[in-house]
Amino acid sequence: MKIGIIGGSGVYNLEVLAKVEEVRVETPYGMIRPLVGEAEGYEVFFLPRHGGEHSVPPHRINYPANIWGMRALGVEAIIATAAVGSLNPEMRPGDFVLIDQFIDFTKNRRHTFFDGGEYGVAHVDFTEPYCPALRKTLAAAAAELAAPTDAGFTLHEKGVYVCTEGPRFETPAEIKAYSLLGGDVVGMTSCPEVVLAREAGICYATIAMVTNLAAGIAGEILTHEEVLEVMARNTSKVRALLQKTLQKLEEAYTPEACDCRKAGRYFKEIFGHMFGKN
Ligand code: HPA
Repeated sequence: MKIGIIGGSGVYNLEVLAKVEEVRVETPYGMIRPLVGEAEGYEVFFLPRHGGEHSVPPHRINYPANIWGMRALGVEAIIATAAVGSLNPEMRPGDFVLIDQFIDFTKNRRHTFFDGGEYGVAHVDFTEPYCPALRKTLAAAAAELAAPTDAGFTLHEKGVYVCTEGPRFETPAEIKAYSLLGGDVVGMTSCPEVVLAREAGICYATIAMVTNLAAGIAGEILTHEEVLEVMARNTSKVRALLQKTLQKLEEAYTPEACDCRKAGRYFKEIFGHMFGKN
């Protein structure tokens, strides 16, 4: 099985990868250039979604190219990382959240492969937006990492992700509204990434890392530097979780254990002829 890893803020390289090289994939949305390497016996494709030097802001990321490219490479499961602000007093900076739901407040992004006309009309179920089988594997891996020391490895097994358009941070009034709506964390990238992955029939889960309390909660202004600094302090934890998850994949996860691949049947019907054996 081929695995995709999409790195968010602060995750621009993967030390867990061996024999790394760049591959180029043409897609109808432009070219992507993920790194490919080997980790824990898997062929792993790694894409830093903001570019290698964090030069692409959330609203300019080429989400369709990234997901189409992963599909073209034969990737069956994607683990994404994301920095988030917290609206929930129990989710503290440095904690992991395995998000299980989203509320989409993005405004101006290409959010579907099914654009009508030659691109077809399809409505895909989103009752469980993030792959439950992958999330279970991530939770099991995190429990194993936390068990020996319990040192600084706090994971929340559920969380509602509010996706904003950015690139500005939120106002305290927006955060208050999102909180009333049931949001736990806020970020700028999960939508449409998770949506396109499901449309393409790829299992997808996100490891969210809380980097800050959301606007108006801490009583201090927010800076991107603060987000990057907290991520930098925690990237070893993110890497450890990715590595442990890959180690547990074989026993804990099969693409048949969820309905993600089945959700990709429209994609296959409409675009299948554009892919080779994948
Ligand atoms: N808001 C939006 N995106 C974020 C935040 C935040 O507070 N922290 C990290 N990414």
